[in-house]
Amino acid sequence: MYDIHSHILPNIDDGPHSMDDSVEMARMAKNDGTIKMICTPHHKDVTENHSIPKLKELIVKFKSRLKTEKIDLEIGTGMENHITLELPQNLADGTSLTLNQTKYTLIELPFFGKPNFIEQVLFDVQLAGYIPVLAHPERLELFQDTPTILNKFVERGMLTQFTSGSIIGLFGKKAQNLTQKYLKQGLIHTFASDTHRPTGPRTPILSSALKLVSRSYGTDIALKLFSENPKSIIEGAPNTGQFIMKMPKPKRTSYWKFW
Ligand SMILES: [Fe+2]
Repeated sequence: MYDIHSHILPNIDDGPHSMDDSVEMARMAKNDGTIKMICTPHHKDVTENHSIPKLKELIVKFKSRLKTEKIDLEIGTGMENHITLELPQNLADGTSLTLNQTKYTLIELPFFGKPNFIEQVLFDVQLAGYIPVLAHPERLELFQDTPTILNKFVERGMLTQFTSGSIIGLFGKKAQNLTQKYLKQGLIHTFASDTHRPTGPRTPILSSALKLVSRSYGTDIALKLFSENPKSIIEGAPNTGQFIMKMPKPKRTSYWKFW
């Protein structure tokens, strides 16, 4: 599997508080079947409290520690970019990082409300040649209140990243139901862990969610969402045609419990 959204680096945002915890998270991910993980600390935390060079330095340290610990997990650089009026400029001047230096950029919309500049900024980002990957829409009030907004964004060529814990119910019923609904509609392009800790609801474990998707939609669809699609993003796929999801009828819709 490939994980395009993680807060695994220590003491740079609200992720782990120690390098030991980061290492533990990497070990868990590797043992769970993750091949590569992109570090996506919050843009605001990096630029306001640290710097891009500091982030890059931390990644070098982290990789070196993983080597020492013999944890064979590939690490890439990225950022979770909050949507702001400055985002297009920040992408242009390199203070907002894309996913693994590709044109795909992870963008987080607000958890509550809908600032009136959202659509214009997303349009400007696309106009500049980037492909927005919308972070965990199922957990945001905007999509919970008006689910059809996501259809519009996807029609405009944006991709979506859902949190693996949402489908298991770790982020509440609303996020779980919305994930099921969007899965049926083929509006989910990739799952990711959004891991913050080695324990609790935001661990790096992806396989439990993969099993659930596989149980309802089959192994091919599950592998597309947890492996092929995120890998294509990480590798900077030149076009987005391959991300269009044609979903089969789910085998069962009522059984979404993990246990
Ligand atoms: Fe995140």
